Amino acid sequence: MKLTKYLNSVLLILVVMATLSCSSEQDEMDHVDSLINQMTLDEKIGQMNQLMNFVDSLPIDPYFYNLIKEGQVGSVLNAFSPEMIHEMQRIAVQESRLGIPLLIGRDIIHGYRTIFPVNIGLAATFNPQLVKECAEIAAMEARSEGVNWTFAPMMDISRDPRWGRMVESCGEDPYLAEQMAVASIKGFQGDDLSNKNSIAATAKHYVGYGAAIGGRDYNTTLIPEAELRNVYLRPFKAAVQADVASVMSGFNELNGVPTSGNVYTIRNILKNEWGFKGFVVSDWASVKNLQVHGFAKDSMDATEKAFIAGVDMDMCSSYFIDNLKSLVENGIVKEELIDNAVRRILKVKFDLDLFDKPYATEGNKLLTEQALDLAKKTVIQSAVLLQNKNNVLPLSKNIKKVAVIGPLADAPHEQMGTWVFDGKEENSITPLKAIIDFLGEERVIYSPGLETSRTIDKKGLNDAIKTAQNADVVLLFMGDESILTGEAHCRAELTLPGCQNELIHEISKLGKPTVLVMMTGVILMVEPILGKVDALLYGWHPGTMGGPGYVDLLFGIESPSGKLPMTFPRTEGQIPVYYNHNNTGHPPSDESWIRMYDIPVKAWQTSLGNTSHYLDYGFEPLFEFGFGLSYTEFQYSDIKLSKKVISKNDTLVVAAKIKNIGGVKADDVAQLYVRDLVGSIVRPVKELKGFKRIRLNPGEEKIVEFMLSSEDLTFHDGEKWHVEPGEFHVWIGNSSKASLMTKFELK
Ligand code: BGC
Repeated sequence: MKLTKYLNSVLLILVVMATLSCSSEQDEMDHVDSLINQMTLDEKIGQMNQLMNFVDSLPIDPYFYNLIKEGQVGSVLNAFSPEMIHEMQRIAVQESRLGIPLLIGRDIIHGYRTIFPVNIGLAATFNPQLVKECAEIAAMEARSEGVNWTFAPMMDISRDPRWGRMVESCGEDPYLAEQMAVASIKGFQGDDLSNKNSIAATAKHYVGYGAAIGGRDYNTTLIPEAELRNVYLRPFKAAVQADVASVMSGFNELNGVPTSGNVYTIRNILKNEWGFKGFVVSDWASVKNLQVHGFAKDSMDATEKAFIAGVDMDMCSSYFIDNLKSLVENGIVKEELIDNAVRRILKVKFDLDLFDKPYATEGNKLLTEQALDLAKKTVIQSAVLLQNKNNVLPLSKNIKKVAVIGPLADAPHEQMGTWVFDGKEENSITPLKAIIDFLGEERVIYSPGLETSRTIDKKGLNDAIKTAQNADVVLLFMGDESILTGEAHCRAELTLPGCQNELIHEISKLGKPTVLVMMTGVILMVEPILGKVDALLYGWHPGTMGGPGYVDLLFGIESPSGKLPMTFPRTEGQIPVYYNHNNTGHPPSDESWIRMYDIPVKAWQTSLGNTSHYLDYGFEPLFEFGFGLSYTEFQYSDIKLSKKVISKNDTLVVAAKIKNIGGVKADDVAQLYVRDLVGSIVRPVKELKGFKRIRLNPGEEKIVEFMLSSEDLTFHDGEKWHVEPGEFHVWIGNSSKASLMTKFELK
């Protein structure tokens, strides 16, 4: 009886809460609509215009001033300082007729002032909670300077390390990308956009941008429907379900239609099929680019195509304010459709509570102790240990002399990585500084060897070699300057630039224990280097707290636990190589691999037993997706299923035992993979379906459990979604090469 009463009151509270939230949503929409009713057509179109600010100090350029005052600007991109932001917002709120506040957009990609590791490094943490916390910090810092909208998270799937923007992505896996994207949206937007520390997020770049042919930025993308649905659209759908405020349409042409003029992907899928309630912003001048693509004949045509496709806000090309009015007046575009776009934009402004709180939050929220601790923790969890011969790592804290060498050892700007507008190099703690702080000046000797990562002048090499000669251990900090990664910074050859290879080679001749920390945003072809160093720690561009994070790892205060979010090829010629590929009819094996130099001269031509491999490089990548070493070892055993046969409505529990069988307390990332053995279209050889970060003391063991429902087994065949009966294999382990496997059947 008591329980029934209790349940009834809980039910009542839930109904009241739901009614309240509906009515507050209704109130908000009433406000939006009453505002729209007061707006002229020009003012409406003004809301759909995002203006790029070029002037970096006050006063505001008179042209911009007037546009804002006339209600011709809905959002500003790149206002350079809190003072400028405040002034622009003031003009909009106080001097424009309707006082509509501006959305202040900014690329806050991996931190605002506190810079976290680049996004591919954040993905390597396999820790969505941490990613959420980083976004929370970034949002708090940004809002404290008046920024209320970020163009993040980027959720493009990237299977090609030549693509410079892979650094901004979560790598090759749609499940990982989806988990990380949702985590960062939740971090940026909080539980409620109106919270004083929340900012609006953007899911970008919609869609398929990462599939640029040849890994060359902005290039054509060709993605069959099934792959589009199963791989590229997945994180976006999850972002919409997580209530992302905006979506950015891309630069790429997808199967012949540019994504910023694509009715099918924006209007049909995003808005109609998924019911996206936020607004779509174009990428930088991608409306204008419709002409360059050869998809629109002039600016009027480009405007019409982008708008009809579903773009609500034009970033930087001014095509909407130049052309939309005549398109309405000529009856080509209906004003209701304009109202719909404006409604979406105003709703986000109301959600952010900008009408009441247009300006920066009060108090200095930058670089707090909490932010810096989090940044360090993220560096620790993002670095991936790829090699550790003779357990050279961790280093003893009693080591007598350490040589710190390399152009990235003391490069505070470079370690921040790409897409940093608000981070300041004076806040970066470099590896050199952190190692000196840890060991004391007398035990550290330093020589950069090369001035920058691209230096080809060898004059510094001798000094570096001499320095190394005088040390017990050599720590090399090599990689890329931040500008060698990112948008439009793609590379056909993914080797260390400058004469860094030569420096490594010379150092290796000394026979000293040598550790290489690779600081970059991309995946470099490290196979030739592996024989020349004892340990390789892939440290990415680590951001503000790179130095202290690395010190904890190098000296064993923490064990590395990052895992690769992208496959490491052995050579560029293997690209694209990714773990979740389909099987061929001729799958390769070690036995079937025909090695180039084993083929007899004038050997008989035969196709018998031939398999899918390269004569020179075989078929395996260098390091697989999900891989990463630790200072301890984890053993996976006893994989168990709650049932061997499930029906479509069942949830399956997959469990395994994980034991720390080494001598060090550490985290591992347990990963769940599934293979659908037979499908109406060919299914990938393995697909990640879950992961969990687990901390274990030496000797400790835990049971790790994952839930699998038929929803997790669905796939699109190009026409519709399916979940097909049949046999499935399931693995638990700590990389995509996991071998602990069992089977179940879906009836
Ligand atoms: C990029 C976007 C970015 C925008 C604004 C474009 O070049 O593709 O990712 O958000 O610029 O800076």
